[in-house]
Amino acid sequence: MFGWLTGKRSGEFLRTVSFLKELSPQQLDQLGRRLSTVRAKPGDIIIREGEAGDAMYYVTEGEVAVSVQESTVIARLKAGDFFGEMALVLDEPRNATVTAATSCVLFKLKKADVVYMASTSPALRTALQHAYVERAAGAYLARLPGFAELAPELRAEAAAAFRPVRLPAGVSLEEIWPPGTELLVVVSGKLFLTRPASPRERVELHPGNSLTHQRAALIRTESLVEALTLSAKGLQALEGREELRQALRKGNVPQTSN
Ligand code: CMP
Repeated sequence: MFGWLTGKRSGEFLRTVSFLKELSPQQLDQLGRRLSTVRAKPGDIIIREGEAGDAMYYVTEGEVAVSVQESTVIARLKAGDFFGEMALVLDEPRNATVTAATSCVLFKLKKADVVYMASTSPALRTALQHAYVERAAGAYLARLPGFAELAPELRAEAAAAFRPVRLPAGVSLEEIWPPGTELLVVVSGKLFLTRPASPRERVELHPGNSLTHQRAALIRTESLVEALTLSAKGLQALEGREELRQALRKGNVPQTSN
């Protein structure tokens, strides 16, 4: 059906895609020439959690389900949405599984082309980064006991309370702890925890690990680190909803003092 969507023709189609709207016509034609079309049947796994990422996808027809830990569905994505960008932007393994929920037609764009396009287009880079922040928070919460059982809409509401931060390499987290931050969740990058009693022994922290200010004194970044923060205010807002308060308690997220 999309056989005709090659070269310039798919460039024209791409002009209607909202997150690409700031690319120039030449960039869109270039992008169009690099796309391939993938069809999926209901139940086909397009991306598997934990695997390395080599491409991202744009849904042109149908619906896919995003899930973590085999079963918790965290989102459904439809025509006009994209997925598979996180592993490419962050250089981390796939953080969720994406399965076709219906028959789907997808555009596939290889990692090297995404990296190239993002390097020439600040607008595309920003669109990809905005998506990962919201999605990383949703995926983090879906793995926490308490939050995993919540309705996806409620989890998405909680995810919106998180803010992104970039931490430079070679600093102690205590020195650069973002003011007012109650909880910091690692998204990508290298950072190590060292106990004063055994300074040679270092424990690497991984995406999804969360930290409070108390632990920050023992942690140093070794590369640029992308993280999500939840402020005291954000946490209080979540605690204002009974279901979310219970989820925070079950998930062992530190509670505010009042
Ligand atoms: P990636 O980690 O490369 O592969 C799995 C994809 O699932 C991920 O990129 C995102 O595109 C998508 N994804 C992960 N979490 C969410 C979420 N909370 N909402 C929507 N999509 C998500």
